Amino acid sequence: MTNFKSVLDAMPVGVSIINRNFEIQWVNESALRHSKEEDPSRLKGKYCYMQNLQKDKPCDNCPAQTTFDTGKVTHRELTIELNGAERCFQVIATPFKQKESRDFSLVIEMVRDITGQKMIQEKPLHSNELNKIVADNAPISIFTIDVNGVFTSINPAMARQTGLGDKAEEILIGRFNWINNLYTTKCGLSDYIRKALSDREIVRLWDFPFITYGGDRTFFMNFTGVPLFQADGKTHGLLCIIEDTTERVKAQALLAQEAKMAAVGRLAASIAHNLNNPLATITANSELALIAYRRFSDNTYYGADLFWKDVAVYLGTVNKAAYRCTNIIADMLKLSKREGIVLGKIIVNKVLEEVCDEIDFKKDKIKVTKKLSTDLPEIMCDGRALQQVFLNLLNNAVDALKSKPRGRISIKTEHHHSAVTVKISDNGMGIPGEIMDKIFEPFFTTKTSKKDLGLGLALCYEFLREMGGKIKVKSEPAKGTTFLISLPVPADREGERYDPGSTG
Ligand SMILES: Nc1ncnc2c1ncn2[C@@H]1O[C@H](COP(=O)(O)OP(=O)(O)OP(=O)(O)O)[C@@H](O)[C@H]1O
Ligand SMILES: [Mg+2]
Repeated sequence: MTNFKSVLDAMPVGVSIINRNFEIQWVNESALRHSKEEDPSRLKGKYCYMQNLQKDKPCDNCPAQTTFDTGKVTHRELTIELNGAERCFQVIATPFKQKESRDFSLVIEMVRDITGQKMIQEKPLHSNELNKIVADNAPISIFTIDVNGVFTSINPAMARQTGLGDKAEEILIGRFNWINNLYTTKCGLSDYIRKALSDREIVRLWDFPFITYGGDRTFFMNFTGVPLFQADGKTHGLLCIIEDTTERVKAQALLAQEAKMAAVGRLAASIAHNLNNPLATITANSELALIAYRRFSDNTYYGADLFWKDVAVYLGTVNKAAYRCTNIIADMLKLSKREGIVLGKIIVNKVLEEVCDEIDFKKDKIKVTKKLSTDLPEIMCDGRALQQVFLNLLNNAVDALKSKPRGRISIKTEHHHSAVTVKISDNGMGIPGEIMDKIFEPFFTTKTSKKDLGLGLALCYEFLREMGGKIKVKSEPAKGTTFLISLPVPADREGERYDPGSTG
């Protein structure tokens, strides 16, 4: 026994010998450590269930009892609550027989704590269960297809969405092919699915228009396809997630349509308003010319000289008003892009200098400061449209400085990697916050002069947008306004003639 004792003590499992009354007769080192006793002799005679499990009677499924009853070795896993936590033990109870004797009064119990191992084994089970709960209760359709496109599983939301209800699983799983059917093919979804399966990459589609199996209505959805891989790395199928976005897409379309209608309405009202004035002038003056002509024919007009003079005035006014109508229409045509943008190589500084030469700043005693970068790259722009943009912005600045004694305009050009920027600032009256979001609208003006239609900034915005540029405004009432334009530099010229010293 002494020899064996050292072998048993070295074992990492707890070994104990108990008699038919469940009294401990002997324990090895490992079992001793577990009992928290230091002296093994103090364990002798104690009931194993009391000592090890803090129970007042043996367990119902005690392996030692089974071995005492059957005389055979018993293997059993026991889950026991110890100090408030569940622990799992593997127990092997072996009858301790003397030689060939059939009788025995002792059992050797080997106990191994396998709680950690169990947790690892059961974890996937738990997460599988969790996955199932999530899929079953998710308000979005989740299903899987195999590499050929045949359904392998569906969740209840998918069953509802197909309209097949309880029969969905029976009809779809293992039978229905989601790639090779008219609807998936027709809307182009099959191509994305095939690609996800062959490229082994996730595919995501937003607000994708899908024709339902009813074939009668467009259904919009967010679609995510996640390739599933087997342990050997081969593609097993595709996990598909569908979120119905039909209502949102429809609501958005309605809003966009309403916004368009509102914009059209506003535009129509402004056009009517702007054309009304010159048309009223035309009507009134042509009327006057006709009256004069009738009286002249009746010989009731005061004199031939006077008649020709008066008619000339009426016709002159008609002519001016008619030109004004033509200008309004011409500007509107520009806005509606009938003339189109023609891109060519442009040096921004050159266009700016030309425009500045056209404007008489001296008349309003305005001091103009130019800080033009000497190293600007050429950009691709429509020269005439760009001229128009600078002219409109500079005219606005001049208008804002009309009643200012020391009016100043500063113009600055810079090159920032992918853009050429133009800053036009004035120290004029500024733009009140409440009209800031309206200044780019067509026909918005605060000016009373008849020549100002309120189209300048609308045209700037439109021209720049078409040329890939942007316009921003910063303004402080009574202090001044800055318009910042950025124009894209073609990728092959980004590094060209770039002088960091010129910025700042
Ligand atoms: N630099 C500026 N300083 C102050 N207000 C400005 C400035 N630029 C534009 N605005 C405001 O924005 C409005 C719209 O400008 P926009 O150039 O579109 O039209 P407009 O100058 O009034 O008319 P148009 O350009 O057709 O002659 C102006 O009426 C003015 O109120
Ligand atoms: Mg203007």
